[in-house]
Amino acid sequence: MCGIVGITSNKSVTSMIINSLRKLEYRGYDSSGIATLYNGSINEVKCEGRVDTLEKNLNKTKLSGNVGIGHVRWATHGIPSTLNAHPHSSENVSVVHNGIIENSTILKKILVKKGHVFKSQTDTEVITHLITEYLKKNDLKNSIIKILQDLKGSFALGIIFKDQPDVIVGARRGSPLAVGYGPKENYLGSDSYALKSMTNKVSYLNDGEFCIIKKDNIDFFDEKGKKVNKKILELSSNENNYDKGEYKHFMAKEIDEQPITIKNCINEYIDKINNDINIFNFPWKSDDISSIVLIGCGTAYHSCLMAKYWFEQLTSLDVSVDIASEFRYRKNRFKKDALYVFVSQSGETADTYGALDLCNKNNMKTCSVVNVVESSIARDSKFVLPIHCGPEIGVASTKAFIGQMLVLYLLCIKIAKSRKDISKDIFSEKIKSLKSLSGLIKESLKTENEIQSICNSFIEAKGSMFLGRGYSFPIALEGALKLKELAYVHAEGYPAGEMKHGPLALIEDGMPVVVLAPRDKYYKKTISNMQEVIARGAKVLLITNKSKDEVYSENIWQTIEVENTSEDLFPFLVTVPLQKLAYYSALKKGYDIDKPRNLAKSVTVE
Ligand code: M6R
Repeated sequence: MCGIVGITSNKSVTSMIINSLRKLEYRGYDSSGIATLYNGSINEVKCEGRVDTLEKNLNKTKLSGNVGIGHVRWATHGIPSTLNAHPHSSENVSVVHNGIIENSTILKKILVKKGHVFKSQTDTEVITHLITEYLKKNDLKNSIIKILQDLKGSFALGIIFKDQPDVIVGARRGSPLAVGYGPKENYLGSDSYALKSMTNKVSYLNDGEFCIIKKDNIDFFDEKGKKVNKKILELSSNENNYDKGEYKHFMAKEIDEQPITIKNCINEYIDKINNDINIFNFPWKSDDISSIVLIGCGTAYHSCLMAKYWFEQLTSLDVSVDIASEFRYRKNRFKKDALYVFVSQSGETADTYGALDLCNKNNMKTCSVVNVVESSIARDSKFVLPIHCGPEIGVASTKAFIGQMLVLYLLCIKIAKSRKDISKDIFSEKIKSLKSLSGLIKESLKTENEIQSICNSFIEAKGSMFLGRGYSFPIALEGALKLKELAYVHAEGYPAGEMKHGPLALIEDGMPVVVLAPRDKYYKKTISNMQEVIARGAKVLLITNKSKDEVYSENIWQTIEVENTSEDLFPFLVTVPLQKLAYYSALKKGYDIDKPRNLAKSVTVE
């Protein structure tokens, strides 16, 4: 889960690499580094910490060169430190790496016996020594073929060479890698986002491929060294969305953008004239599908879980949900008539990609719900449903969660209608409700002041719980995840009805508990569960919807009311105050909201 950039040009590349690394910080930010080739020798500057610190160090050393590689790290092997930061260089080569080399210990032993001296605790350094060793007896291309045969695991590599003045080698197995074409210069990046400010012309390496990039030419090869042809793709440009505007944090901006992103997504999918949902060229007939398997990680998993409730309620399909890292290593019973749906904002999550790859290899029907349409998951699934949210930069996923839920809901009612699981009238009602969703979310954003006044209780408490039943349960999980990842406080999401089977023991006097109870079919049961926690001393923040009927319960600490909508759509409205709760809790604690500790936006390691 690191970011890689490489540039070969006829001018100095240092500041361009720094600019690209800043864009890649969403992939990792515990250490950073850069290496260039200057006057026939490799020079590097590395540091623990972010690109800002790296830039200050660079200003002191005045690193120059027309070919170079840079890296932002999210530590896997070895603590975040200057020594473990990439690039890892010998006199002859310098390497940046994303991923994990699974056989690094064995390779290291062999290399140490040959006299190589290791400086870091990383798995990456074996690659540096291995190429150095092969280059003694082989040319560059054959050395790359040989190291790719030796390395086990999943990785993306960027390499420069002392004796090849304008060459960068890129190699991919498992972790994504893109190349970009510029005027008299070419680029390598762990994704196209890193390259966007320099070019909109890119190609992607497939698994097992490597490339030799020179400033005026790029050659691609398969793992055996046979040349392969590549399509050059043009990236769409939406640079404005990469800006915080008047906001202090991307997260705040992205939460507030939700009414617009919902509107955009609805405009993309809903055919207002025919009152239908446009999902063109769906490759399978709905009668050929009798079950659906939804797969994702983290927040994306929560949107899958949400979709399970909708699919079960509105269609006759069998529905299952899986966490990608579990799915990919279980003994799965692949079903020909199943639709496998992979949900991922970034489209680069290693576990989700691994699960997709497994399904593709078993010839399954694969479909992805992604935000980044140029991503690996989008490219390798048989059908893609974009969420049309625009770039999500904050590490905590907010507008993408809402977008994923929306697209999964649209898919659900479209399938329900084509299978005749719901009538045309019900379908039309649902479309009508969807058209008002953006405005209702706008109203949910107004809960901000109430939230700001209560978040102290959440950050001062030992821990908190988020409870919900049915449609509100996945949202409870998501609310707890947001608070954990941003405010670094323990928070647990739980099905409200399960509390009596153990977790009630955790409730102490004054413990903050969020209860999600919109007036849906679960409402009364959830209110009973709420009373059980209040009776044990919990301070309950009830999130429900506006109604003329009073909530039948005493001693509720705080109540927040969202607007009225159909049962299916309450999850969207109750999500927003929870996002705000996490945001303001982290803000009060003075944490780095867009880059919370130990996380990265795109999790490209297993
Ligand atoms: O890019 P993806 O949607 O595949 O990412 C999956 C998770 O890593 C991601 O949702 C993570 O849980 C977020 N930090 C949550 O805010």
